[in-house]
Amino acid sequence: MLLLRSGRLVTPQRSLVADILVEGRTIAAIGENLHAPDAEVIDASGKLILPGGVDPHVHLDLPMFGTVSSDDHYTGHKAAAFGGTTTVMDFIPTPESGPLRAGVEEWRAKAEKAAIDYSFHMNITRLDAAIEAEIPRLLDEGITTLKVFMAYNGRLRLADGDIFRVLQLAREHGMLTMLHAENGDVIDRLTAEALAAGHTEPIWHARTRPAWGAVEAGLRGAALAAQAGAPLYIVHMNAGGEADMLRYARAHGAPVMGETCPQYLCFTEEHLARPDGAKWICSPPMRSAEDNSRLWAALGANELQVVATDHCPFFFDGTTSVNYEGQPIAIPGKELGAADFTRIPNGLPGVGDRLPVLWTEGVGKGRITENQFVALTSENPARIFGLYPRKGALLPGSDADIVLWDPQKTAVWAVAHSRQRTDYNLWEGWQLTGLPEKVWLRGRLIVDGDQWHGRRGGGQFLSRSAGAEVL
Ligand code: URP
Ligand code: ZN
Ligand code: ZN
Repeated sequence: MLLLRSGRLVTPQRSLVADILVEGRTIAAIGENLHAPDAEVIDASGKLILPGGVDPHVHLDLPMFGTVSSDDHYTGHKAAAFGGTTTVMDFIPTPESGPLRAGVEEWRAKAEKAAIDYSFHMNITRLDAAIEAEIPRLLDEGITTLKVFMAYNGRLRLADGDIFRVLQLAREHGMLTMLHAENGDVIDRLTAEALAAGHTEPIWHARTRPAWGAVEAGLRGAALAAQAGAPLYIVHMNAGGEADMLRYARAHGAPVMGETCPQYLCFTEEHLARPDGAKWICSPPMRSAEDNSRLWAALGANELQVVATDHCPFFFDGTTSVNYEGQPIAIPGKELGAADFTRIPNGLPGVGDRLPVLWTEGVGKGRITENQFVALTSENPARIFGLYPRKGALLPGSDADIVLWDPQKTAVWAVAHSRQRTDYNLWEGWQLTGLPEKVWLRGRLIVDGDQWHGRRGGGQFLSRSAGAEVL
């Protein structure tokens, strides 16, 4: 038994000073002056008690451009835990041929080393009769969410008609569709023109993926969802105009929800123009300072539902090894695109940075409240993805995924803090204030200050059921 005494419990609804008692894997009681003589007691006064973070958007061990994202289902989970996140969800690629089931089996095998709790989404990047028949059977695997793409022509993109069909199937079976909203045709055209003109630098990644494409594609997705009568979740919203479109779509009854990520709140296209600009290459790209502020405003106004990460790290220089748990490791990364921005692996690290960055830049600067912080990073994703109240809640009976959060603790952020298995951190040198002190996963202490007590295989697969909430 564990008794956290006199911490300030923060939920989306309120903050209150109380004790919290954990028995085994779950929260047993919340109240004042709880009596538990056999419990280990931790004085949490002056600290916050948060539900473990839920990050519904990570890419672990993902093959891309002849390499692989550099965090796997152990190292990425460990980095998440050090940042206060105890549940992550990653995406299973559609197998190039054969059934979706083969992809599920492959990802289940990869995740045997899981260190925190996890779930999967299924990418649908080709659609035929066999896949249509298989989509409802994903529910037997505990997978209730499908991701479709309007970009990456010839690789991941589905035609609008196929996206509409996926939405129809999702509605029929109580599933949720997630959308990558960019305009693949415009991107292809602008990319060909840029390369023909000899533009190979990272900044051209942003210049060939204009924000209007995301705005238009997001609204197109919302319209398809409204016509199918199916819920839609737009991932990695990056442009102020997307927030406007989301507001419009929701105001007109479309069951559509939106996610943004810390990188789209903190960085701009100018970062891609730096000599090390490849570090910021992901899709969609960074936008402008005005987009940053409009996204912050949308978060403050409760117009976006989730802050996730799209964590998909690569080394900046994958020819030079770093030390990870005492072993040297190097994985080919951003240098693969040194001569051509289209060959730079798309993605960046962030799973361990999310909560400290959002707290510092959001709560610390008065852009969101601490209650909104918990809604955006824990309760809302748990609800939307069908895990609430097991996850994302401080309630009797919920899993005891708990973060003891020190709002005064400060650090000059660096690659070592977030533990992501790569050679750089986007927030390198930023002063972050508000950090996890201890993290429990189902009642088990897995992070204690700088100490790691988690283990490979200590995470559990979270089977989800159809019919989750639409917020
Ligand atoms: O650049 C990114 N975001 N890589 C991961 C794949 C995706 O589109 O989410
Ligand atoms: Zn995407
Ligand atoms: Zn992604």
